[in-house]
Amino acid sequence: MKQTVTYKVNPDNPEIDKIRSAAAIIKTGGLVAFPTETVYGLGADALNADAVLALFAAKNRPLDNPPIVHVENISDVYKLTENVPAKTELLIKHFWPGPLTLVFERSKMVPEVTTAGLETIAIRMPMNKIALALIKESGCPIAAPSANLAGKPSPTSAKHVLDDLNGRIDAVLDGGITRIGVESTVLDISVDPPILLRPGGTSLEALRKAVGEVRLHPFITAEAELPAEKARSPGMRHKHYAPKAQVILVEGVVPAIMAKVKELIGACWMQDKRVGVLATDETAWAYEADVVKSMGSRRNLDSMAANLFRLLREFDEENVDVIVAEGVATEGLGLAVMNRLRKASGYSIIKVP
Ligand code: TXA
Ligand code: MG
Repeated sequence: MKQTVTYKVNPDNPEIDKIRSAAAIIKTGGLVAFPTETVYGLGADALNADAVLALFAAKNRPLDNPPIVHVENISDVYKLTENVPAKTELLIKHFWPGPLTLVFERSKMVPEVTTAGLETIAIRMPMNKIALALIKESGCPIAAPSANLAGKPSPTSAKHVLDDLNGRIDAVLDGGITRIGVESTVLDISVDPPILLRPGGTSLEALRKAVGEVRLHPFITAEAELPAEKARSPGMRHKHYAPKAQVILVEGVVPAIMAKVKELIGACWMQDKRVGVLATDETAWAYEADVVKSMGSRRNLDSMAANLFRLLREFDEENVDVIVAEGVATEGLGLAVMNRLRKASGYSIIKVP
């Protein structure tokens, strides 16, 4: 067990002495969790193979699933990659710093463990002052997967990080609650047209508006488990976002969803199961269950994304056996919300008319 140090940092004006203390840990091969605009990341020097190995170990993450490498200046992208495609500049101009991760061909300077042996590398520039200051003071690109134990929902607060990783990492920079709440969008631009590998904080609509055609990897819209060898992104193969409780996702139009959710609550109670409902502002009032929580209004998909992972963790604290979740629209950040809910449910999805 390590002693995990918490530094409370002002997100608008990060205290440089705290950032330097954290950067000193990164420089000597240690692990520091930090906020980004999406979720908290667990950082290590991306060019230090031992540090990255320790990162995988702290999370219990399978070695075949590479982390995203975070940079604070564009020239690092050119150092870490080969054959940067023409579209890159446009994408960077539109979306960086921000919740968009780009997949490039990797350069030989990147240790193999950092890219999990792949010939490609995933890079992003986060839009968060603490994250950018930490990368700058560390003087190296920072490999950072989400700062949760493998398989758990990503952390949107320092408390979530400590719930999973206290005693397993050196420090956490506590910059409050993350704004977006779901991870970055992952876009493979090593192929043309680019392929969306993970929907996230940058919407598909915004990407298409900026660069034209973007294909969807079949895993993204999958409503059932697809064969692992079809994965283009290692993360697609792994169980993810799963709370302890069993998740059942109900998709369809709202009145039909409400009727099905009520029926499922009844069925759970018949089996003496504690049941929670992950509802919306428009529907939460109608349910009588052990726990009812709202993701937010159906008219505000951004707020649903911001609340999703926190609520999944809260259901675990309430010790429910089953979470019945309502489906929402797959527009904007709704595509990311539904992708996470489908994965969290292990594709236990009920479609109603
Ligand atoms: O918002 C985010 O992206 C957060 C914050 C901390 O930046 N990070 C994050 O990292 O979500 P992680 O490691 O939990 O997810 C990275 C995803 C995984 O699904 C992984 O398989 C995929 O990116 N990935 C990494 N390198 C890749 C590559 N070379 N090709 C395809 N997918 C890759
Ligand atoms: Mg993750």
